[in-house]
Amino acid sequence: MIAEDRIIVALDTPSSEVALGYVSTLMPGVSQFKVGLELFCSAGPGVIDEISDSGGRVFLDLKLHDIPNTVSGAGRALNDAGVWMTNLHASGGPEMMGAAREALPDTLLLAVTVLSSLDQEVLSEYLGIQASVEEAVSRWAHRAEMEGLDGVVCSPREIEAVRSVVGSDFLVVTPGIRPAWSEMGDHRRATSPGEALQRGADYLVIGRPITGAADPREAVRRVVNEIEGEDDEQ
Ligand code: C5P
Repeated sequence: MIAEDRIIVALDTPSSEVALGYVSTLMPGVSQFKVGLELFCSAGPGVIDEISDSGGRVFLDLKLHDIPNTVSGAGRALNDAGVWMTNLHASGGPEMMGAAREALPDTLLLAVTVLSSLDQEVLSEYLGIQASVEEAVSRWAHRAEMEGLDGVVCSPREIEAVRSVVGSDFLVVTPGIRPAWSEMGDHRRATSPGEALQRGADYLVIGRPITGAADPREAVRRVVNEIEGEDDEQ
């Protein structure tokens, strides 16, 4: 896979006009875009068609979590909408994951394990889960694979734990990526694109370092250079 195809650009904006502006600026160099809750709730499902009509592929990041029957119904709609990749919470349970898998035969389906905003204290004191974050992530990733899901979304620091319990073709998609030259933003700990790939990630979700750059295409070029290990002196 070429470096550009490892990048998924997060379109974190409420405006479909702004989102489609990024799509037309970045295509065809990058053709994978993440539509999250903000854009989906503001612009509606039509934004999926608009990105697809431009030749882009959509990772719809809705993190579904409900009873199996409801998730199954949502899954059928997303499958028909031609979404390339979508996700659900592994904490919704194996039956929910299995029902979603059946409803989404043509779409890459990922499990979200432990949200990076939840720390060990919330996990044990509030959720009553006695495992460590890493153990919970590995257990849920393993179960997601057993239920036929295609991969997980996890933080760069959990990639190795996931890789140690799943097969090599199970996808690992990771946000929290910061190229060496970019601002950390609200990430307390971030990983460079090259390091995340070395640890075993398949796809990198990158938002502000690209969408917040004065020249987003140039930002992609610099990320690609970094992935390919070329010096970037600018
Ligand atoms: O701008 P930035 O590169 O930080 O964007 C990262 C994207 O990844 C955002 O859309 C954010 O919602 C998402 N994210 C995620 N899971 C996390 C952290 C960020 O899906 N644990």
